[in-house]
Order: sequence, then C-alpha cells, then structure tokens
Amino acid sequence: MHRLISFAAAPLLAIAVLSVSANADPIKDRQAIMKDQGKTVGSITPIIKGEKPFDAALVIAALKHLNEDAEKIDAATLFPAGSDKGETTASPKIWEDNAGFLAALTKYKKDAAAAAAAEPKDLESFKVAFNQVTENCAACHKAFRIKKD
Ligand code: HEC
Repeated sequence: MHRLISFAAAPLLAIAVLSVSANADPIKDRQAIMKDQGKTVGSITPIIKGEKPFDAALVIAALKHLNEDAEKIDAATLFPAGSDKGETTASPKIWEDNAGFLAALTKYKKDAAAAAAAEPKDLESFKVAFNQVTENCAACHKAFRIKKD
C-alpha cells in the first residue's frame, strides 16, 4: 500500500521517464522496424511503377517480410507513454488518442496479414495487395507522426 501511494505521488514526468527506460530503447527499436518496412516497400515499388517486371517470388517474399515486421509492432513496448520526447517523429496524438492509434495499428496488422496470405501471382492482384498495405503507412503517418526539421 505504501509503495502504491508513493508511486502515485511521483511526478508525471518521472513516471514517463521510468516507462521509457523500462524498455531498452523503444524509439530506436520502433524506428528500426519502420526503416525496414520502408526498405521492403522500396524494393517492390518499382514493380508497381512499371519500372521493373513483375516477380511473384520477390513480391510474395516482400509482403511476408512486411507482415513479419507488422507483427513485431507492439504498442505497449514500442510506444510507451512519454516516448514522444527525444529523437522521434512520433506525434503526441499517439497517446492523446491512444484508441485511435491502436485501431490504426490493428488495421495495419490485419491488412499486412491479408496481403501476405494473398500471395499475388500477377501484377493486378499484387497492386491490390500493395495498396491494401501501404494505404496504412500513409494514413498512420498523417495522423500520428510529425515532421521535424
Ligand atoms: C500505426 C501507425 C503506423 C503505421 C501503420 C506505419 N507507421 Fe511508419 N511510423 C509511425 C510512427 C509513429 C513513426 C515515427 C517513429 C519515431 O520516430 O519514433 C513512423 C516512422 C516511420 C519511418 C521513419 C523511421 C525513422 O528512422 O525515423 C519510416 C521509414 C516508416 N515509418 C515507414 C513505414 C512504412 C513503409 C509503413 C507501411 C508499410 C509504415 N511506416 C506504417 C507509425 C506508423
């Protein structure tokens, strides 16, 4: 009981710092996953643009890899409260509208899993799967990421 009271009495900032340091470095960890996703999307975008021929093995592997990355995104460990401070473009909205953020993340994971399972065998079905996944990147970034310059 005594512990509970002193914890509750601790300043909010201390709690925020505490929850950040509980994980190794959630900012770096989530950015590493995001970067990997960016690389993966970048590897298949030339096919969407018609700059490279359709390659079923390549796009299926990429979609499966994206899904693996999506599965790694655990909001509780990678986006703990207070981790909008530091070298990050995560918007405070992630925590102000946490239900909205979690809904966006859940939708992304669902779409990434569906796209990976679809295993597109031609360009047309690949385009559908690609758009299904990448619309999530843009939507979440627009709502929950800030541009810092
Ligand atoms: C549910 C929300 C969400 C989804 C979905 C999402 N992102 Fe992100 N992304 C973020 C947030 C928040 C950041 C900022 C992370 C930070 O700086 O701490 C970010 C940052 C990034 C970055 C910059 C990483 C860095 O080094 O600073 C890249 C690249 C990126 N995302 C790519 C993608 C791609 C590609 C997809 C889709 C395949 C995607 N993201 C889907 C929320 C999302």
